[in-house]
Amino acid sequence: MNLVEPQILQSIVNASGEYIILLDAEGYIQVSNIQRSLVFHTDSSTKGMHIDQFRQSFQEQMKNPIQIEALFEKYATMKERYSEVLETVNGDGFFMVKINPIWSQDSGDRIGTLVVVSDVTEMKKLEIELHSYAENLEGMIEERTKEIRKKDAVLAQSGKMATLGEMATGIAHEINQPLYSISLIVQGLKKAQDKGKLTDGLLMPKLEDVESQIQRISKIILHLKNFSRSSTGVLEKVCMNASIRDIFKMMKEHLQLKNISVVFHLDEALPLVMAEYVPLEQVFINLTTNARDAMEDYESKHPDICRQKQIGYHTYKEGEYVIAEVEDTGGGVPEEIQDKLFEPFFTTKEVGKGTGIGLAISYGIIKSFQGDIDFKTILGEGTLFRIRIPIAGQDKEHSS
Ligand SMILES: Nc1ncnc2c1ncn2[C@@H]1O[C@H](COP(=O)(O)OP(=O)(O)O)[C@@H](O)[C@H]1O
Ligand SMILES: [Mg+2]
Repeated sequence: MNLVEPQILQSIVNASGEYIILLDAEGYIQVSNIQRSLVFHTDSSTKGMHIDQFRQSFQEQMKNPIQIEALFEKYATMKERYSEVLETVNGDGFFMVKINPIWSQDSGDRIGTLVVVSDVTEMKKLEIELHSYAENLEGMIEERTKEIRKKDAVLAQSGKMATLGEMATGIAHEINQPLYSISLIVQGLKKAQDKGKLTDGLLMPKLEDVESQIQRISKIILHLKNFSRSSTGVLEKVCMNASIRDIFKMMKEHLQLKNISVVFHLDEALPLVMAEYVPLEQVFINLTTNARDAMEDYESKHPDICRQKQIGYHTYKEGEYVIAEVEDTGGGVPEEIQDKLFEPFFTTKEVGKGTGIGLAISYGIIKSFQGDIDFKTILGEGTLFRIRIPIAGQDKEHSS
């Protein structure tokens, strides 16, 4: 008994997005739409043909002909639904074949088979892509990390150059002072010579003075050279106090010029930390210039308030860490921007004054020492930045 007119059934099957083959108990095709299929290469109606006639054609189309053999075997003998994914011979298509035996409810005999073939190429390709993606993920992450490191390094380097530019007046002053001393000594010697009073006893100590002033200049220049060099990424034992004192040497004149006083509370028994000297200096310079800006900003906004602009440097040991604090008497950080401070390019300063990379770079540098950087702030009173770096030799097993 036909529930549906054969022609209507054919239309339904034709309209289906899948390839459908309805076989009778003997394996003759009752209804199918496989003539549409490019894979199965048949342009005429397949009604009444035996499924075996397609065996050869299927085998030729598929990458693994043995699978077709097995499928026909299953088809003949199986009692339940069966499905399998087949790959086309050139590997550019995947088909899921579902074989559904049909059983008579009255007699329990197998009265036919419904074969549904779905094109799963896209899904399979996605699966393969996903698979290789997962396999390559580690490599990709490594690659990206390397790229980011490179960019970070470039950014850090340009940040450093900007710092040097800003420090130029202070540095020039640092160099000018010994040059001025040398000039004075030379003038004095010339005068003594003119008066015929230039004795060996006078000359020798003056030459020694000149030498020590020249040494002072070479030290500054060496320091500048080191500072402008790119970071090596190699951690060594360094003294935080020395780092703070060194940057102060570079910035002293500059801060004096801005009427900023400086106080030090440096623990003289401070343990060494594992860090890189120049990048650590850069962090202190960034924090110091930020402190300066915050205090100048506060001053310009509150011209009627008389408050000493002061930067405090404080170092101490806490557990397995060395802590360094840089404190200012600026206006503090408003609550609504507090969680943005370490974001790259976040700045509240006008164009040309702020780049917004100082704290982002500092954060990266301190993290590369396995340390932490955070801040406490009170609006209208000031801000304290706190750096925490592990004491050298504390964590040998993990760091090597
Ligand atoms: N000591 C401080 N007091 C108040 N605000 C600060 C302080 N340090 C940083 N900030 C805020 O964080 C922002 C980002 O700082 P930074 O990354 O160094 O970039 P930049 O100094 O170029 O603006 C600053 O623009 C400022 O708003
Ligand atoms: Mg800054």
